Amino acid sequence: MKNNPLPRLDANPAVRQALLQFCRLKPGDVWEDAQSRHKVGCLDAVSPDQVAALMDRQKAVLAIHDPPYNLVAFDERPLHQFIDWCQKWVQNTARILSSDSSLYVWLGADQNDAFQPLPDFMMMMRHMPFRPRSFITMRNQRGYGTQKNWMAVRQELLYYVKGSPIFNVELEYTNIPKILTGYYKEVNGQMTENLQRSKSDNIRAGNVWVDIQQVFYRLQENVSGCYAQKPLKAIERIIRASSAPKDIVVDFFSHSGTTLLSAEVNRRRCFTMDIDPLFCEITIRRLEHFRRTGCLGWQNGHAFEGEYACPEEVDTGDAGEMTARAPIAQPSLLF
Ligand SMILES: C[S@@+](CC[C@H](N)C(=O)[O-])C[C@H]1O[C@@H](n2cnc3c(N)ncnc32)[C@H](O)[C@@H]1O
Repeated sequence: MKNNPLPRLDANPAVRQALLQFCRLKPGDVWEDAQSRHKVGCLDAVSPDQVAALMDRQKAVLAIHDPPYNLVAFDERPLHQFIDWCQKWVQNTARILSSDSSLYVWLGADQNDAFQPLPDFMMMMRHMPFRPRSFITMRNQRGYGTQKNWMAVRQELLYYVKGSPIFNVELEYTNIPKILTGYYKEVNGQMTENLQRSKSDNIRAGNVWVDIQQVFYRLQENVSGCYAQKPLKAIERIIRASSAPKDIVVDFFSHSGTTLLSAEVNRRRCFTMDIDPLFCEITIRRLEHFRRTGCLGWQNGHAFEGEYACPEEVDTGDAGEMTARAPIAQPSLLF
């Protein structure tokens, strides 16, 4: 099996430097996609002018933001500074969302630091023009346990709304089997238990998502070099619940371009940005690569394969274990 990943780009200045020459965007630039009319900006989410430039007076119905969490793996700054910074991009989001719209924010909660930044972010949101709608927990599963503690597998997702936005729940059976029993009810003189009355063997998503695999190097959707990639299945669930085809979806923290790719697959338009030209380029290349090959990412390869060879390239020879590279991304097949 070809094994040619990029190292974490935030932790490898030499690789970053080598790749910057291949980036189409420099700070302030916006790339416009001729085919599906997506946009990618090399912009700062806290700048009202830069956000306005990306939108060009158009409004979005859905924002999906996944900012750096201010804890392990990201640059850490004092909590109040982080929350002030968040407030600015939330205000910018409020300006560019339509009157009936949804905002989803991924956030971390550090159990060694009063579960921050989650609680202070929630407090800050009480003063923003959004109503809380749901607090979703995704199981962010990598391994299968530890002998020392309950394993930390939570990933928090806050869901807010403005006005009365669209919410499509009816399509949404997961592949999680029904396992709980005991809700008894008499039907036609017979005592039935809830599994007997079910229309489906599976449950709906609800606000606890335990059916989504964290992205890792064996998944086709893996984008090496990225250190915080969200699973397509999670983003697709949000997009399908809270927007309709042709709607505009925004994501101020693009990174590996998950929201853009999911918008493409689900026939929405995505306006996205990243402050880092490298992640803007990876976002654009991920879309182009998908259109060319049907692949959702590069698995063990990387976005700059044509131009840049990683020094540590190796052939592990275990192609039989690879996740299939077959094109699986037809609309609605990701669930
Ligand atoms: C947690 S990652 C987002 C991951 C993304 N959801 C994915 O699936 O790949 C956060 C991204 O935000 C970008 N970023 C940090 N500060 C920013 C800012 N002020 N404006 C825009 N992007 C920023 C970082 O460069 C990083 O790529």
